Order: sequence, then structure tokens, then C-alpha cells
Amino acid sequence: MIHLKKDHEIAAMRLAGGVASTVLREAAAFVQPGISTLEIDQYAGERISHYGGKSAFLGYRNYPCQICISVNEEVVHGLASGRCVQFGDIVSLDVGVRYDGYIGDNATTVAVGGCDPAVQRMMEVTEKSLYEGLGQALPGNKVVDISRAIQSCVEANGYSIVREFVGHGVGKKVHEEPQIANFDDGSRGSPVLKPGMTLAIEPMVNLGQRHVEVLEDDWTVVARDGLPSAHYEHTILVTDGGPEILTCPENLPSEPRES
Ligand code: MF3
Ligand code: CO
Repeated sequence: MIHLKKDHEIAAMRLAGGVASTVLREAAAFVQPGISTLEIDQYAGERISHYGGKSAFLGYRNYPCQICISVNEEVVHGLASGRCVQFGDIVSLDVGVRYDGYIGDNATTVAVGGCDPAVQRMMEVTEKSLYEGLGQALPGNKVVDISRAIQSCVEANGYSIVREFVGHGVGKKVHEEPQIANFDDGSRGSPVLKPGMTLAIEPMVNLGQRHVEVLEDDWTVVARDGLPSAHYEHTILVTDGGPEILTCPENLPSEPRES
């Protein structure tokens, strides 16, 4: 069952999205050469609390950090550590916030100071593919329309879609139905999109081959060929008027409250 959110739930999801996107921006601005990923994680945790939210990831399936921080060839679910990021690295930040019982989930990839133009271009295409995908989040379309839009944008530019991880419904829980693959997986019966669905759309794109593996820490997903990877994500609401992005700073609650 795909839960269609009621108006009061959508209002809460906007607030959660406002906090998640504001903290994502703040964390991205905090990234600079020489800073450790643990410092980034702690800072993000403080900002989430400041706005009255809680990390939606900390403790989820025993995940040990406030946010996910994935450097260079790390695709997603990277763990904070004493590692210091350096000029030329790229850092994917994934921030999930619970506020008033509902979750906002978003991600971005930033260069530390600057990076190789070829890598920058991959980041731009990944973000573009996110917007192409969410542009298909229209009532009457199917989930696979989102998947195909992302896939064609990424592959037309010569990059690879990671297949093992997917976007998802989101609400009271981080992961709800439906799953949203970032490629056409050929499965029949793709769900029809309806107003009131809230979806996290999140392409993960590799500069090289698509294959990934999980490190010994049981969390960090890396590109097997060691080449850089990018990740962008928004939480959106399907409406009759088209997709509404919930993870935007304009949705930040004016008065933080305890959740
Ligand atoms: N945005 C990611 C996802 O939807 C973050 C989950 S990280 C976890 O899978 F730690 F919570 F698992
Ligand atoms: Co997500």
C-alpha cells in the first residue's frame, strides 16, 4: 500500500523538508579543505537539533552517524571519521530529518574548494537527472516514468546509474513504498502516481562503471572501480499541479518546536 498523505501530514512534511534542506545547505557550506567528516557530522547534528528536529538516520538499522558523508568514490552511506577532506575531493551529504513525526530526506554533492572539471560535469548531470526525474512525478504517470527520465539523462551523458540503491516513498518512516529505481528495471506493474504521494528521488551516478561494493564497516558503498560518484536527492509531493519540492529552505518552520 502506498500511503496518500492527508493535509496535516503534508504540512508536517513541509516543515521536516524545510529543516532537512536548510541543514543540508549549512552542512555543504561548512565543508572546506582540512575539515574532518566527523566535524561535518557533528555540525549537522547540532543544526538539526537547533531547528527542533532529530536525525532520521541515526540508529536506523543501527546507522551510527547523524548524516551520511560519502567522499569521492564513496557512493552513499559513508560514515563520519577522522578523515579530513582535501581540495579537489567531492563530498556527498545526505541529510534526513524527523520533525513532528515526519521525515524530510535530501542529498547533494559538493566539491571541496574545486574539483576536476570532468567530475564537476558529472555532478551537474546527476543533479539535472534528479530534476528530470521529479519532473515526471505527475498524477497518472508511473514510477517507472521517473526512473526512465533519470536513466536517459545520465546515460546520454556517458555516466553510469548505480542499480543497487533506489529512491523511495517517505513519510513517518524513512523508507516507505514504492521503491523508485533510477533505471527501468523491466518489472511490470509499476505503481501509478497519485496526488498525496511523498517520494524521495535520489539518483546515484558513477563517473566510471556502475558496479559498487560495501566496505568492511558494513555501510559505506563505494564504486568498485574507485572512480568518483555523485548523489542528489529531494523529497517531493505529487500534486495535480505537478511535483512540489518539500525539501526547500522556504519550508523552514518559523518557530522551531521540540519533536
Ligand atoms: N537517503 C538514504 C536512503 O534513503 C539514507 C539512508 S541512510 C541510513 O537510503 F542510514 F538511514 F540507512
Ligand atoms: Co533517501
